[in-house]
Amino acid sequence: MTTDAGLHTVMLMRELALSAGYAGILRAAAELRLADALGEAPATVTELALEVDADPEALARLLRALAVHGVFAEDGQGRYTHTEMSRLLRADAPRSMLYMVLWATEPWTWALWGRLAEAVRRGGEVFGEVYGKDFFTHLHEDAPDSAQVFDRAMTQSSVMSARMVAEMLDLDGAGVVADIAGGQGYLLATLLERHPTVRGVLFDLPKVLLNPDPRLAEGGTLAGRARLVPGDCRESVTPGADVYVLKNILEWEDESTLRALRNVRAAARPGAKVVVIENLVDGSPEMKFATAMDLLLLLNVGGRRHTKDGLVGLIGQAGLEVTDLRRVGPYLHMIESTVPGA
Ligand SMILES: C[S@@+](CC[C@H](N)C(=O)[O-])C[C@H]1O[C@@H](n2cnc3c(N)ncnc32)[C@H](O)[C@@H]1O
Repeated sequence: MTTDAGLHTVMLMRELALSAGYAGILRAAAELRLADALGEAPATVTELALEVDADPEALARLLRALAVHGVFAEDGQGRYTHTEMSRLLRADAPRSMLYMVLWATEPWTWALWGRLAEAVRRGGEVFGEVYGKDFFTHLHEDAPDSAQVFDRAMTQSSVMSARMVAEMLDLDGAGVVADIAGGQGYLLATLLERHPTVRGVLFDLPKVLLNPDPRLAEGGTLAGRARLVPGDCRESVTPGADVYVLKNILEWEDESTLRALRNVRAAARPGAKVVVIENLVDGSPEMKFATAMDLLLLLNVGGRRHTKDGLVGLIGQAGLEVTDLRRVGPYLHMIESTVPGA
């Protein structure tokens, strides 16, 4: 006989099984730019449908599904208003997550999740088989829109953490800081603004550097103190910086992670500081997100979200001496190490 508790469990399982649908619902809101279409005043579905060029009846169903999750609210008179969640989908929100939502639901993610069992059997990525190239090569050669979504999503998530990282990172006495795989450079720009005598190097894949943070770009407020260096950190990195930052990049299979760390060690002078900043999977306050992201990394780059011991171990294996491990805000850890031989 089914008990009440059993029924609850059945409902949880049904919801979990349909969670791809929830992601799809959220993506539709982002693609339609619904949050930008709705201003401060409540709007009817008909008004919104006109604004985003949608079928009113279908849009009513989408809005009802979104409101169940707290994304938009219905005011009891058939009009919709913003909620704290729906405001995060506005392009101009201070903590906008528009591109984060688009990135996490890009077409390539749908193609990969269906092959998770295969990736688990194999213990490696499936991206190459689906798209014929590795993840970043595919993005940059075949999917420029998706690449742009990716870069913007990384910048939006950096906005959340850059200030905290800048507050914690001691750059006293440093002349040059290099952000390896630093994306569009939001974190580097934040560091340079905070430390007016420090110069910076932004190192990333060539296509990413075509569209840097405006402060670092030619004519930008920090351009005189910043160098943009295109390259592949699995091949080599810019030599001679006093501090190397690697944030959310050591998420490949361990061989590539070790190669990148060893390249940093080879490029840095003895005594230089190497700062690795990552979301760790153990002790994360958001285990549902962290464990799913860990598996998305398995699917697309054969990589992982590390445990504390796992990442510290790899940094040691690369010949760096770990000196400190601290939390940065609720989601990130900062592991400081030095290049031996000073
Ligand atoms: C997850 S994002 C993190 C970006 C940035 N560090 C941040 O925290 O916002 C990973 C970055 O690594 C870059 N990347 C990937 N493979 C790389 C490689 N082989 N060499 C240099 N950069 C690479 C990507 O272009 C992307 O900007």
